[in-house]
Amino acid sequence: MNKPIVVVNFKTYESAQGISAENLAKIMSGIHTSARLVAAVSSFDLSSVVKAAPELEVWCQHLDPIAYGSNTGFLHPFTAIERGARGTLINHAEHKVDKGHVSKLMEMLPDEFVVCACAADISEAKILCSFNPSFVAVEPPELIGGDVSVTNVDPSIVSGTVEAVKKISKVGVLCGAGIKNGEDVIKAIELGARGVLLASGVTKSDNPEATLMDLISLIE
Ligand code: G3P
Repeated sequence: MNKPIVVVNFKTYESAQGISAENLAKIMSGIHTSARLVAAVSSFDLSSVVKAAPELEVWCQHLDPIAYGSNTGFLHPFTAIERGARGTLINHAEHKVDKGHVSKLMEMLPDEFVVCACAADISEAKILCSFNPSFVAVEPPELIGGDVSVTNVDPSIVSGTVEAVKKISKVGVLCGAGIKNGEDVIKAIELGARGVLLASGVTKSDNPEATLMDLISLIE
């Protein structure tokens, strides 16, 4: 049985950058749960977060399919791995890439490296599945950062993605946008998702630890 997964995307929220990223990662690392907690951090913070919370699974928010060499400003996958990244988001709604980018990245990454490809809808999720990422995360862009959870407003995009993906692959489906509490997480799982991808629910919380505890509270 796969553990339900809760991925917290630190984005560039002030509460989740630099020292605050390390502190949030330490809080996540201290939580005892049967869920799989993951922090998707800024590339600037990757090394320091891995050092501050060595037990925590840490991902990047983006990578570029480039080799060592003359690639100014790009995010080099093998340096990320060397610095402790165990996975990455790709094609997030706030950092879209073309499908060739995803395909090339998948070809160069080692099998054990986790790739969560983000999709705006069911048809994009199906296309991304053809590259065989570890997960696709379906997130309606208009609900990202909002107060209402995709699981309440648009449950059919979650169940529809799960159904469509199951027909063509074994890729796990996550959902995101507006996820705030344990009920949203359980609803996602009931709809067939393997877990959730969220940001503001934690990064804007006055008490991130309490919010994280709530998020995992209904997971057995
Ligand atoms: O990557 C997670 C994300 O885009 C959803 O953001 O703030 O709606 O949880 P948020």
